[in-house]
Amino acid sequence: MKYVTGAALASLLTTSLAFADPVDDTLILNEETDMITRTAAPAHLSDTLDEVMSGWLFRGTETRAMQADDFDNPGMIFVEQAQDSWMIAEGTEGKSCSSCHNDMDSMAGVKATYPKWNEEAGEVRTLQMQMNNCRTERMGAEAWGYDKTPAINMEAALSAVSRGLPVNVAIDGPAQSAWELGKELYYTRTGQLELSCANCHEDSYGMMIRADHLSQGQINGFPVYRLKNTKLNGVHSRFKGCVRDTRAETYKPGSAEFVALELYVASRGNGLSVEGPSIRN
Ligand code: HEC
Ligand code: HEC
Repeated sequence: MKYVTGAALASLLTTSLAFADPVDDTLILNEETDMITRTAAPAHLSDTLDEVMSGWLFRGTETRAMQADDFDNPGMIFVEQAQDSWMIAEGTEGKSCSSCHNDMDSMAGVKATYPKWNEEAGEVRTLQMQMNNCRTERMGAEAWGYDKTPAINMEAALSAVSRGLPVNVAIDGPAQSAWELGKELYYTRTGQLELSCANCHEDSYGMMIRADHLSQGQINGFPVYRLKNTKLNGVHSRFKGCVRDTRAETYKPGSAEFVALELYVASRGNGLSVEGPSIRN
């Protein structure tokens, strides 16, 4: 049982302040791939958390089951759409993704390492930024809108070929300053409610908030298919929703702040399996 201080948070956590343990369950994808849904916290979190847990453990029985089998996972329809678009030439160069990258299987493992420092550009790139760089610089095609359908579907397809592999984003070296910014954002209280990400996802996970079982806010499952809007949703859109729930002004998907926050939050899940596309409420 965790005790929560702070009137604003207490008022959000349902009247009963109910705590429910994450389920004791194992995720085996398609009856063959063992997924790591809980593991020892990465070293940089050792002062605050012992264990990191996938959001999957905080969802209901049916939602968890839907994610365990690709035939039942509605997110896989969008993955198939992206697999088709992978082979379609676009832009002035007459090239498709497959012209340079061959089969999508060649991308196995890539998702686990993003966001990632790009030496040539001198910036931390999310997977969507990298995809768009290939589109604009190598294909002569237009960039996809951040977290918009074509981009999020492709991100899900690239995630799908990495499923089961542990998230492993680098936080040192040239990526460190973005990581520090992300960390600062994570612990900054915002909005009328004066709540930080950490107040909910580090101090209060396990609590019931409205009708929702509060998780650690991990992003190893992204993109996520949400039952509430029946489409794939990106990390930055989720951040936006959470910030807005604190009644604060929020950043835009694709902004430097959300890129930094994505790097930081991804690093909190280092060691958990890549799960996207996962299923959430
Ligand atoms: C003309 C060739 C070309 C095309 C077409 C192309 N790419 Fe790339 N892509 C590259 C090269 C070269 C790199 C590695 C260099 C770099 O880091 O910029 C790369 C890197 C990537 C990476 C990062 C891989 C890693 O290990 O970090 C991803 C993801 C990616 N491309 C996705 C796509 C997608 C999605 C498409 C289609 C929308 C696409 N690319 C089209 C040439 C291409
Ligand atoms: C008022 C409490 C609250 C705050 C503050 C908050 N969130 Fe959330 N967040 C939620 C709830 C409730 C959910 C849905 C249940 C769940 O998955 O934890 C959620 C879900 C998420 C998820 C989806 C997890 C998954 O497995 O699908 C992510 C990622 C996330 N939050 C990140 C953040 C970040 C980053 C911040 C700070 C910018 C933040 N949240 C601030 C309440 C909060």
